[in-house]
Amino acid sequence: MSDWDAARAAAARIERATSLRPEIAVVLGSGLGALADDLQDGVTIPYHDIPHFPVSTAPTHRGMLAIGRMAGRPVAMMVGRVHLYEGYSAHHVAFPVRALRALGIRYLVLTNAAGGINPHLTPGTLMLIADHINMTGHNPLVGPNDDRLGPRFPDMTEVYDRALRDLARQVARVLGVTLVEGVYLGLGGPSFETPAEIRMARTLGADAVGMSTVIEAIAARHAGLRLLGLSVITNLAAGLGEAVLSEAEVVETAARVRGNFTSLIEGIVRGIDTA
Ligand code: HPA
Repeated sequence: MSDWDAARAAAARIERATSLRPEIAVVLGSGLGALADDLQDGVTIPYHDIPHFPVSTAPTHRGMLAIGRMAGRPVAMMVGRVHLYEGYSAHHVAFPVRALRALGIRYLVLTNAAGGINPHLTPGTLMLIADHINMTGHNPLVGPNDDRLGPRFPDMTEVYDRALRDLARQVARVLGVTLVEGVYLGLGGPSFETPAEIRMARTLGADAVGMSTVIEAIAARHAGLRLLGLSVITNLAAGLGEAVLSEAEVVETAARVRGNFTSLIEGIVRGIDTA
C-alpha cells in the first residue's frame, strides 16, 4: 500500500472517532503529555487502534491521539511519538505527520524536551525553534517520491513558519514567559551526547540538542504544513553542568514548566488564524 493510501486509512479511522475536524495538531514531547488532559469534549484513540500508526515504546510517552477543543478550537494532540532510537525507520517516524495531513491538519506544533547548549538555555527555559540541523543521518523522504505527498526536493529555507514564530513570541510577551529562539540539533540517540559532541554541536551553531522533531519537521515541510517548534530545555547538555544526564531529570523539568508551556500552547492555538 502507498503511504498516501495508508495515511488516508489512518485518517478515516480517526474521523470515525469524532465529529471534530481540527486544522491544528500538537505533538507532545517527553514529559509534556499532560497537556492533552486540558482538552474539552475530547476523545482519545490509542495508536494501536489507528491503521499503520507506529506505537511508541518510550516509557514517558503514552501513545494516543487526543482530539478535543482548546481555547474553543478543535485540536489534535499526539501524546507520545516514536523515535529513531526505538528502531523505527525515518519513514515510520514521519507516518503520523502524513496521517495528520490526510486528516486535514494545516498547522503543526512539534514540541520536545532538549538539552541546553547555549548558556542562555538553562533548565526550565522554553526555546522557540528558529531552525534545525538534522544530524540523525536519516531522512524520511529517501526512496521514491509520491508527488501526492509533496515534491521530490522540498525547499527547507524556512522550515519553522515565520508568522507562527512571530505569534509565539507575541503570546510569550503577553504572558510574561521567557522564550529564547535557537537552533535545534537532532541526533539519533538513545545515548546522551559526550561533552566532545556537545562542543562540536556548539561550534556548528546549535543552541539545543535532542532526539526527535527533525524527521517529523522534514515530513511536515514536504507535506506543505505550516510548522512551529518548541523545546523545553530540561537539562544542561553533557559536560556543561555537574550532573550526569538522566531521563528522570528530563521528565521532572518538563513537569515543572507545565504551567508556562500550557499557557503558551493555548495562546498559540487561540491566535493561530491571525498568524
Ligand atoms: N540530549 C539529547 N536529548 C535530550 C537531552 C539531551 O541533553 N535532554 C532531553 N532530551
